[in-house]
Amino acid sequence: MIKKETKVLVTGCGGMLGEAVYHEFKSICQLYPTDKDINEPWLEHLDITDFAAIKRKIITLKPDYVLHLAALTDMEYCEKNPEEAFLVNAKSPEYLAKLTAELGIPMAYISTAGVFNGEKEEYHDDEMASPLSVYGKSKYQGEHAVKTLNPQHFVFRAGWMVGGGPTKDKKFINKIMKQIQAGKTELAVIDDKLGSPSYTYDLAKIMRAVIDREKYGVYNSVCEGGGSRYEVAEIILQAHNLHDKISLKKVDSSYFKQDYFAPRPRSEKLVNTNLKSLGITIPRDWKVCLQEYMEMYDWKVPNLIDKSFQVA
Ligand SMILES: NC(=O)c1ccc[n+]([C@@H]2O[C@H](COP(=O)([O-])OP(=O)(O)OC[C@H]3O[C@@H](n4cnc5c(N)ncnc54)[C@H](OP(=O)(O)O)[C@@H]3O)[C@@H](O)[C@H]2O)c1
Repeated sequence: MIKKETKVLVTGCGGMLGEAVYHEFKSICQLYPTDKDINEPWLEHLDITDFAAIKRKIITLKPDYVLHLAALTDMEYCEKNPEEAFLVNAKSPEYLAKLTAELGIPMAYISTAGVFNGEKEEYHDDEMASPLSVYGKSKYQGEHAVKTLNPQHFVFRAGWMVGGGPTKDKKFINKIMKQIQAGKTELAVIDDKLGSPSYTYDLAKIMRAVIDREKYGVYNSVCEGGGSRYEVAEIILQAHNLHDKISLKKVDSSYFKQDYFAPRPRSEKLVNTNLKSLGITIPRDWKVCLQEYMEMYDWKVPNLIDKSFQVA
């Protein structure tokens, strides 16, 4: 149970999910948010590959919980730098899991829908992992280590991460928004990959709810429903009233094979079976979450002319 005096150490808190975790946890406990890059005044430096620094921090702070968010999340970077990917995404959580287990500290780990190969339409919490990419394999090795080494583990499996806003969002939503900001009036978007978005602001609430219940285990933690990247882009355009100003061109993944060469599962749709069995009903429909996300920040959308008035 998280109380005012509970000490919670967070790694990788400067990223997309970290921003939501910071805001969800900062007023309910003693929060120690860390990252290797200090992009906020409230962050403290902690590199999770520096095992001596990790040990020092944990021994001196004696946290009640460790929330391990830090990871290399750029799939192409991981593909090109497998040693670094395995060090950050697998060896570091393994070290943390061992250390926290020795000290009796519960640990949360954020895994990914990318641990599955995507041949099925959707995945429940306890299905067999079979990752395709270096990122997926390294994250699964991390997940496995946490599950086997620290009995007091919470594994939250996220889907397509949505959150962080214009400065921290490194993923699909902001990639689309950057093209819109650049004035593009036609966007090529793939329609052969399916997924469930994970809304960081809801995911942080889910983490809090599960940790409060002290129910260790694996939790798929995604929005309700899911769709293709193309459907996500459609909602983005609708949210900004741009559907009659910007056209979407349906393409398949081969269109982007130079830039996005890491193998990706056909389906990354998850079902929140274990969350539901705990009675946790925080996840909302992904379209509602995306609309809320679009309204939450100033995305600096340019004034575009209606498509019907554009000269070919
Ligand atoms: N993004 C997704 O679509 C997605 C989907 C499923 C699961 N996840 C998982 O969710 C968790 C949170 O990721 P996110 O979406 O918030 O991505 P993110 O924005 O990339 O956040 C990860 C944070 O970890 C930091 N980090 C990387 N190496 C580190 C190190 N050696 N020591 C300390 N911090 C380090 C990153 O810094 P830099 O930015 O400088 O690298 C970044 O601030 C990760 O475990 C990720 O694998 C993400």
